[in-house]
Amino acid sequence: MRPMFNAPQGSPAEAVAQGVRRMLSTKVERFTESVIREMTRLAMKHDAVNLAQGFPDFPCAPEIKEAARQAIADDDNQYAITWGQKPLRDALVEKFARTQGVTIDPEREITVTCGSTEAMMAVMMAVINPGDEAVIFEPFYENYGPDVILSGAQPRFVSLRPPDWSFDRDELAAAFGPRTKAIIVNTPNNPTGKVFTREELEFIRDLCVRWNAFAITDEIYEHILYDGAEHISMAALDGMRDRAIVVNGMSKTYTVTGWRVGWAIAPPGPTEAIRKVHDFLTVGAAAPLQAAGAVALRLPDSYYAQLADKYRAKRDLMLGILTGAGFNCIKPKGAYYIMTDISRFGAKDDVAFAKYLIEEIGVAVVPGSSFYNDPAGPGSQQVRFAFCKVDETLHAAGERLSRLKPR
Ligand SMILES: Cc1ncc(COP(=O)(O)O)c(C=O)c1O
Repeated sequence: MRPMFNAPQGSPAEAVAQGVRRMLSTKVERFTESVIREMTRLAMKHDAVNLAQGFPDFPCAPEIKEAARQAIADDDNQYAITWGQKPLRDALVEKFARTQGVTIDPEREITVTCGSTEAMMAVMMAVINPGDEAVIFEPFYENYGPDVILSGAQPRFVSLRPPDWSFDRDELAAAFGPRTKAIIVNTPNNPTGKVFTREELEFIRDLCVRWNAFAITDEIYEHILYDGAEHISMAALDGMRDRAIVVNGMSKTYTVTGWRVGWAIAPPGPTEAIRKVHDFLTVGAAAPLQAAGAVALRLPDSYYAQLADKYRAKRDLMLGILTGAGFNCIKPKGAYYIMTDISRFGAKDDVAFAKYLIEEIGVAVVPGSSFYNDPAGPGSQQVRFAFCKVDETLHAAGERLSRLKPR
């Protein structure tokens, strides 16, 4: 379809293209394909070390694999109840109480989805009406852009500013108003590695209460924390029980990004709406993998401590490699990415630099502009490295990056 859109002006092919375009959704024309996933495809084409997309290249825990194998062998292979298998919902209740001290109702407050990606989309579609505004911190995980467009919300961007990625309280307060339906908070944050503090979350909470808005929080990196950083769920703050919608999933915590099991935890009213959207989008997440999820969520605390330790060592290794190669790095407090400043390399912009890195150096990264609304903004001098890779992969990237010549 795409080449038809590029047909010469006035040609019969262009007339056809215009006709086809009129038949397509104008919403979809407002966003491009995922830059992150495009980088993965380019990395494969150029045989580059892929530090673009955030998926680990090491295996998940053997007991999680065994639980999935067992579920399939036990014939757990038909549709699960649309909002999620009971054992997984019960395990989610236990874990949320254990880690955040919040008791949720497995019957009325959980929707299991196909990854947190679907959870976020279903939540947005369930709560947004035309004309509603959604506040989004920038830089942001690129999916939120299309999520906002597809759900019909108007985005209001608020900057996170390096080096600590803090926000200006007046700027945030000014982004809220009578049309604000929700704020999206991602903590620990992709791409910055910021972990929102209790004071910051409470400031956000007060704005949500004042303007009667939801806080939709993407907490997918909740266990990947460094240097004593603490993850606080929005749902755990006083006064947020009725307006926090928590989006999370198995992908990052259990090293199973391909399984596509996620969930939304929300008060009963929103959950009813989220379940309806989810049912007609996907019916349900893979049944045997939900069964394995119930096992994974009951892993002991030592599992999470080891996970964070492993990623801390990788973060430190990668910081050394990148600093040595001439990048200015901002040390992440959570998640598994490093945002870097590329101004020392004299590239035209982030996209040109990322292309050069893939084609000439052999390392794939994500151009910073894909995390910002305005491609000419701060992202044009930033690229993001993912370090959720075995040390051999990181060393291989390091060897290639050592050929760079910073000014
Ligand atoms: C902030 C954030 N949210 C959600 C996702 C996707 O999660 P899932 O695999 O559960 O759809 C990612 C993946 O990179 C992410 O970085």
